[in-house]
Amino acid sequence: MKTGLETLVLPAGEAGAEAAARTLAAGGLVAFPTETVYGLGADAANATAVAHIYSAKGRPAFNPLIAHVPDLAAARRIGRFDARALKLAEAFWPGPLTLVVPKTDDCPVADLATAGLDTVAIRIPAHPVAEAILRAFGGAVVAPSANISGHVSPTLAAHVESDLAGRIDLIIDGGPVAVGVESTIVGCLNAPMLLRPGGLSRERIEAVLGAPLARPPVEAESDDSQPLAPGMLASHYAPRAMVRLRAQDVAPGEALLAFGPDCLPGQEAAAAVMNLSPAADLDEAAANLFGYLRALDAKAPKAIAVMAIPEQDLGEAINDRLRRAAVAR
Ligand code: TXA
Ligand code: MG
Repeated sequence: MKTGLETLVLPAGEAGAEAAARTLAAGGLVAFPTETVYGLGADAANATAVAHIYSAKGRPAFNPLIAHVPDLAAARRIGRFDARALKLAEAFWPGPLTLVVPKTDDCPVADLATAGLDTVAIRIPAHPVAEAILRAFGGAVVAPSANISGHVSPTLAAHVESDLAGRIDLIIDGGPVAVGVESTIVGCLNAPMLLRPGGLSRERIEAVLGAPLARPPVEAESDDSQPLAPGMLASHYAPRAMVRLRAQDVAPGEALLAFGPDCLPGQEAAAAVMNLSPAADLDEAAANLFGYLRALDAKAPKAIAVMAIPEQDLGEAINDRLRRAAVAR
């Protein structure tokens, strides 16, 4: 975990936006105001920076994050919009609406930020400070609310400071936010579906669609295989290969997902070996997790053996995801 950082607080403005863009480009974490709540931003394409978001917030799980972009052209580079998604984007962006759409083939958003899903959540915030930062940076910025996990979302820079000072690089103070609740999330995979009520009312969305929003299936609440629902309900990336946890050796034909400096008996005959973090750094391991699972799965091994990972800091979320991958069939 990144702690003991000196957190700089800057007023919104041209110099603030430039400092924010530089910090993001260097892989740092920047809190900034949007019209809904303050967000904790990182370069969406930088998996290590994304891992630092989770450790700074103390998130219990790798919930997928929202990618923030300054305009529709940037949104269409990362997500595929059907006619209804486009209609909602044109009616409500910039604004407190997040659309979940299929990723483009060359979507630059890190697997960790989408929790390995083939979909991506996107929004254009309606806030001049957020817009200035996004334009100065030039890429997508993933940002959950800028609070410690489990605390209420911050509507003032001072809230961010009291939760995250010492854990993030920069806070841009743009005064109090206007909306105060998070964006409304609509899934646009087939029939538009309300995934999270928020700052934009259902009625206004339905008026534009000319039809009621679909409701997430009730079973979604107990069904981890439902990739539509937000929060803890979002499905992880489930590999095709069997996943064997806390492996202490490697069987012939298995691939190995290693962690730390040690080798396992049988490793030299493995179908493939990737090490999440030879230095046993849990943030680095988190950044590599989904990408490495995908890469090992692509070799079609008999199973993926995974070395034990300590149940501390981001290790808790890593193990949570690995356990789900191990039971998912
Ligand atoms: O107003 C907001 O939306 C704020 C500001 C900073 O933009 N952000 C925010 O982020 O509330 P967060 O991380 O607290 O909530 C993101 C939500 C989660 O419920 C997550 O599960 C959902 O978006 N989400 C993200 N990607 C998804 C996906 N591909 N499919 C389904 N849900 C997704
Ligand atoms: Mg939140």
